[in-house]
Amino acid sequence: MSHSRLLLYTVSGVVFCISFIGMVIYGYKTFFIQTEKVASADYSYHFALIAEESDNEYWRLIEEGAKETASKHDIYLEYLAPKKANNDKLLKLFDRMISSKVDGIIVQGIQGERFVELVHKAVEREIPIITVDTDVPNSERKAYVGTNNFRAGKLAGKTLIESTTGEQYVGIVTGRFNAINQKQRLQGFKDAIKDTSRIHVVDVEESNITSIGAAQAAYSLLKQYPSINTFLGTSALDGIGIVDGVQQIAANEEFTIIGFDLLPETLKLIKEGEINATIAQYPKKMGKESVNVLIELQEHDILDNKKYIDTEVIKKGDLSSLQDGELQ
Ligand code: BGC
Repeated sequence: MSHSRLLLYTVSGVVFCISFIGMVIYGYKTFFIQTEKVASADYSYHFALIAEESDNEYWRLIEEGAKETASKHDIYLEYLAPKKANNDKLLKLFDRMISSKVDGIIVQGIQGERFVELVHKAVEREIPIITVDTDVPNSERKAYVGTNNFRAGKLAGKTLIESTTGEQYVGIVTGRFNAINQKQRLQGFKDAIKDTSRIHVVDVEESNITSIGAAQAAYSLLKQYPSINTFLGTSALDGIGIVDGVQQIAANEEFTIIGFDLLPETLKLIKEGEINATIAQYPKKMGKESVNVLIELQEHDILDNKKYIDTEVIKKGDLSSLQDGELQ
């Protein structure tokens, strides 16, 4: 073989080897999908928590409580939610989690047949389901952990009766018309005021569980009904948004505002006298208790399938006696 031929073969061989090694490395990086750590034996169980909306502060507190308890028991807790509240998207996530065979699911109760069917599907696969924040008692969920929402609505009505005199024209801002807990709070509120003829519900608008939505709702309610002198917000960011909306259209008028939950911004507005009272829920406690219940369900069914977490009326005067840790 001539010298030049040998050189040609050697160069071609080297080029081929380099290309081959490059291809293998590139292909591995491109197509190799890292398998989730979930299956690892480091975890005793894999639970899922499915929230109404991912970045909502109230749900983040539920997540915080749930993760705190989960980490004490070496449980892998996955937090999932639609980016913006949406029943169909939540149901799809729920279905996906059932198919991925987790050891248990904590989920907000959703209205309609599909939710009931999915809980049934989970039970058939021996995955215990518990509802949190909102219950669907006619499903096969093993337990509910959260507020008694009808009672919480009643508490709001009672608070309004006690903290006002004279005619009250109430504009209501509610989270979402198709959320069960919001309907129950409204029913409870109406039930509480039904024998008090000086209190009138003028109209109800939706906030889509955002403070901007609540500000727009309050603004449009006041624009349509200037007689409104009281507002009720039935989900966590509604009170905050109502204060904003009212300032935009009637900054110099006095309103009675009753909200829900005790997020930091609500607390601040109560201190400043902008929100008169709030019906506090304890989302962190809900998270902790849901995980405890789900752990128990890994061993056996439970008898007490309704674990109501307290709700409390908080007004400016109550704040000094509360410790920080008690606020969530
Ligand atoms: C409700 C939740 C809702 C949240 C919205 C809370 O009062 O209990 O269902 O997702 O408000 O901010």
